Amino acid sequence: MPTIKINHLHKSYTNEKGEATKALEDINLEIRDGEFVCIVGPSGCGKSTLLEMVAGLLDSTSGEILLDDVPVKGTSRDIGVVFQDASLFPWKTVKKNIVFGMDIAKVPKEEQEKRLAKYIRLMNLTEFENKYPAQLSGGMQQRAGIARALVMNPKVLLMDEPFSAVDHLTRCTLQEELVRIRQEENRTVFFVTHDLNEAVYLADRVILLTPRPGRVQQEYTVKLPHPRNRNDDYLIRLATRIMADIGRGCREDEAAEYFI
Ligand SMILES: Nc1ncnc2c1ncn2[C@@H]1O[C@H](COP(=O)(O)OP(=O)(O)O)[C@@H](O)[C@H]1O
Ligand SMILES: [Mg+2]
Repeated sequence: MPTIKINHLHKSYTNEKGEATKALEDINLEIRDGEFVCIVGPSGCGKSTLLEMVAGLLDSTSGEILLDDVPVKGTSRDIGVVFQDASLFPWKTVKKNIVFGMDIAKVPKEEQEKRLAKYIRLMNLTEFENKYPAQLSGGMQQRAGIARALVMNPKVLLMDEPFSAVDHLTRCTLQEELVRIRQEENRTVFFVTHDLNEAVYLADRVILLTPRPGRVQQEYTVKLPHPRNRNDDYLIRLATRIMADIGRGCREDEAAEYFI
């Protein structure tokens, strides 16, 4: 049974003059339990729009999104979200930021402590629990943001370019940490990125969207077990192939714009 099922999903944005911009057109996707899927595509093709709809943060124009056969209507604790910017509360310590959602959800204190300790360890945040966000590097803030999402034990983790704002080395480390956590917990992950090397390194399956309005252009299964070597020939060839496929189908004079 797929965890997420997206059927004939359309999204148009309407501006104040009533003019519609079609962002996504007839998206059909199934994401299996425990699968790690990366969504890639040119800038503005609707990746974030799709993720926000799966998160229940944005309504579709038509079509449906099912989580375990139940339509997604608004946000839910089954779905954890991590954006590019960790958006931690600046006045709360790392620990207070991470337990905040569990407090709201009335998770018993003992259980909170258990989950906090687990993700502090998994996200390499030991010794940073009592620091404030401003005292942390961007990479550390992002680790705290991921821990904050994971302590809620969501069925699905949605991530929108979560490592785009950190330096290259930190990014590689965070990717490796995500792979490690994923191996320990077998969570379903829906990950948006415009970085093809990142996508092939992380994903079981990569979905390429067309230029706007985004449609599913192609799917690629990454047939390489974890842990992967990011310089593996197969991954490099696959990323090169996806790069070549991007923007195919758009007019040649538009192609440069869609190049990511
Ligand atoms: N709130 C909005 N109002 C109007 N248009 C929007 C809004 N958000 C996104 N769009 C448009 O929808 C398209 C898809 O945007 P987005 O999902 O952010 O793309 P991506 O994440 O792939 O870069 C873009 O053309 C963007 O300009
Ligand atoms: Mg985006």
